[in-house]
Amino acid sequence: MKKNSAARNLTVHHAARTVRWGTDIVALVDGLAGFVGAGAGVASAVAEGPWVVSGARGRPVLMSRVTPVRRVTTLSLEGYSTLSGVRQYAFTETLGCFPMDPAGPQRPPSDQASRPAWGEADSETYRAIAPLAVPARSEQLAVLACLIPFAANDEFGFVEIGAGAGALSATLLECFPRASGLALNGSASMRSAAALRLARFGGRARVEHFELTSTEWLSALDGCECVLSSLVLHHLDDSQKRALYGEVCARVSEGGALLIADLVHPQRAEGRELFAATWDAEARAAALALDGGDRRFEQFVNAEWNLFRHPDPVDKPSVLVDQLRWLSDAGMPVVDCFWLRAGHAIYGGYMPRAKPGGLSFERALKGAEAALSEPA
Ligand SMILES: C[S@@+](CC[C@H](N)C(=O)[O-])C[C@H]1O[C@@H](n2cnc3c(N)ncnc32)[C@H](O)[C@@H]1O
Repeated sequence: MKKNSAARNLTVHHAARTVRWGTDIVALVDGLAGFVGAGAGVASAVAEGPWVVSGARGRPVLMSRVTPVRRVTTLSLEGYSTLSGVRQYAFTETLGCFPMDPAGPQRPPSDQASRPAWGEADSETYRAIAPLAVPARSEQLAVLACLIPFAANDEFGFVEIGAGAGALSATLLECFPRASGLALNGSASMRSAAALRLARFGGRARVEHFELTSTEWLSALDGCECVLSSLVLHHLDDSQKRALYGEVCARVSEGGALLIADLVHPQRAEGRELFAATWDAEARAAALALDGGDRRFEQFVNAEWNLFRHPDPVDKPSVLVDQLRWLSDAGMPVVDCFWLRAGHAIYGGYMPRAKPGGLSFERALKGAEAALSEPA
């Protein structure tokens, strides 16, 4: 059991890795049983019983005298909020919890805007499940590399927005030996993983901190040739994405490109169900291929990673055709979608005078596989 060092004066008698909605006791805290639920279930659970802990994947937590809860989640909690008159606890780490100062800050459960979009617990979960949670991962990386409007021996600079553990940056540096890249990310553990993975590229790779929703980092894009991002921009809402596309276009060099891999919003219920089902199927097949069993797939399910099944206010995928229009409105004469599978699309735009690239898919795939095989 993992326990936060700040978890003092507290006995966690039992803590399940994963809990069944409304049935599993997660922890006995000061003699009280806790059940786990997710944000969306809170309102309906509020009137019903002893204790609920809300807030999946590192989001703020609500504990209250309510039960049962109806969804499955994992325990990766940080931050907190309370209902008035209810004792406060903060869950700062998976399975760790401790009493809070009653006079401490309070966050109303409905205040979604102030929730951290991504915490270290998410980074940890993502690193564990990415090999199956990202459909056709090496193919996605290879597709992005093939779309770069430069030849393999060209010298150019790129910025990766939200580079995570650096797999995409490593793929590009592998495939384009004279390119150099800046990998930006908000999570410290992700930056460490990226630094490790990119170390072999020496001065061609830099890893730096950024906060996606701020504007402070945008100058890092000035004059670079390519901007890429994989599975990050869905943390921005429509208007934030649109504004970012405008900033990229204003800053990236002529001849450059903005290339994005991300989840896209289905416009109809059939699309949502199809995205959800095909994502599950991809993840199950990948889990089976990885270690011959369902264990990793269960991790994916229990983490509620399939946002088409488990919408979360911090995930804000946008409609693909809207995004293509925003890219075009921002000044990119050529915009397109190049790949789409299980709700994950690869799309982007090219600046005026972008040349044809030259990297073969086979070469790119080798580069992606080499990048993924590096320790991170
Ligand atoms: C799903 S991971 C994708 C990582 C990587 N691009 C990949 O494809 O494997 C999302 C990444 O976005 C980063 N991220 C999310 N929200 C962020 C924010 N507001 N500011 C900075 N980074 C953020 C996370 O730290 C995480 O590394």
